[in-house]
Amino acid sequence: MERKFKTLLVTGGAGFIGSNLIRYLFEKGGFEGRIVNLDGLTYAGNPESIDDIYKLHGGKRYFFEKADICDRPAVEAIFRKYEPDAIVHLAAESHVDRSILGPEAFIRTNVLGTYTLLDVATKAWKGREDVLFHHVSTDEVYGSLGDSGYFTETTAYDPRSPYSASKAGSDHLVMAYHHTYGLPITLSNCSNNYGPYQFPEKLIPLMILNMLEGKALPVYGDGKNIRDWLYVEDHNSAVWTIMRKGEAGRSYNIGGENEWENIRLLSRLIEIVAEEKGVAPETYKALITYVKDRPGHDRRYAIDCSRLKAELGWKQAHDFDEGLRATVRWYLDNPSWCDRVRSGEYRNWLDRNYSAR
Ligand code: NAD
Ligand code: TYD
Repeated sequence: MERKFKTLLVTGGAGFIGSNLIRYLFEKGGFEGRIVNLDGLTYAGNPESIDDIYKLHGGKRYFFEKADICDRPAVEAIFRKYEPDAIVHLAAESHVDRSILGPEAFIRTNVLGTYTLLDVATKAWKGREDVLFHHVSTDEVYGSLGDSGYFTETTAYDPRSPYSASKAGSDHLVMAYHHTYGLPITLSNCSNNYGPYQFPEKLIPLMILNMLEGKALPVYGDGKNIRDWLYVEDHNSAVWTIMRKGEAGRSYNIGGENEWENIRLLSRLIEIVAEEKGVAPETYKALITYVKDRPGHDRRYAIDCSRLKAELGWKQAHDFDEGLRATVRWYLDNPSWCDRVRSGEYRNWLDRNYSAR
């Protein structure tokens, strides 16, 4: 039987995946209720990313609440005001390099913030079974793979960066609230996402914008680290499938089954940007700069998502090459969004710490 919800509380809905999730739910997911977007608007949160939805549904089916998920009275007040029957929890500090620079914000938001939401929800819902807390997490909690093998849902957690350790802590709290207090939860661990509205500190948008500006394309280490890439809308269709049909207390891996060495991915991205701009690829290839490796850089991530496919019938809908091209076009078409979200201070830190070898 499918779950139905009246009011979804989405945390982190002004970020990359959250803004795309809200758009997906209104436009393609068939969700008929209302959405409350709770976001603290950190450097990564941008209400502009969800402005189209605000214009269409604001005050009717879409509501925005600026709040910190660690602020218990604020979270309680939002619960009292809207009485959500489901939470999709995405709000987090999300970038590994930033977690190396300053782990504290990661522990605070990802661990304390998740605890606060879990505790407020458990007390507000008082043992109800027709509610759901869905926690959005990462495959990085599983650590690093060698040349072979895949992460499954039973792979032991082995986080190695402050980011992944804080996400692992949040996952454990979610499971603990289910087992100890009976909170109905589902949990998903997804691989690397790409698509529109991603903050240009992550590999793909950073490289696109650096190409356009003629800046160095910084490749960490030998460039042979491997990531599994998934289009953001496919992640969101998986989250929505799990929320409607997933078994309470169960976790599901989500992935693209699409592994790329960083340097190979960058070469493909260069070809696409060059085609779109009508420029020779050599212009951008000349910008590739091997830099000092990220400390504790996980070598390979690869996801086995057969549980989600077999049990809930989900599958990826987007071809990688088409998704990459759509992403490139979005960044080419939205220079003012890019200008506004970028922080000069942070780029200076990166330049100091990952200088050319
Ligand atoms: P993002 O950094 O783009 O957005 C995070 C959002 O959370 C921002 O809008 C920010 O304002 C908000 N936020 C941060 N701290 C907050 C706080 N204390 N209170 C309220 N709001 C706060 O992140 P994203 O890439 O969209 O990731 C969303 C979620 O998905 C995260 O939980 C992340 O761990 C998970 N995830 C991301 C990826 C990926 O490839 N990006 C892959 C797997 C899982
Ligand atoms: P990133 O987008 O930061 O995601 P994650 O670390 O969560 O996987 O990085 C993806 C890969 O690209 C990772 O192996 C690190 C590498 N990388 C670079 O080589 N150069 C860069 O400038 C960035 C941001 C990442």
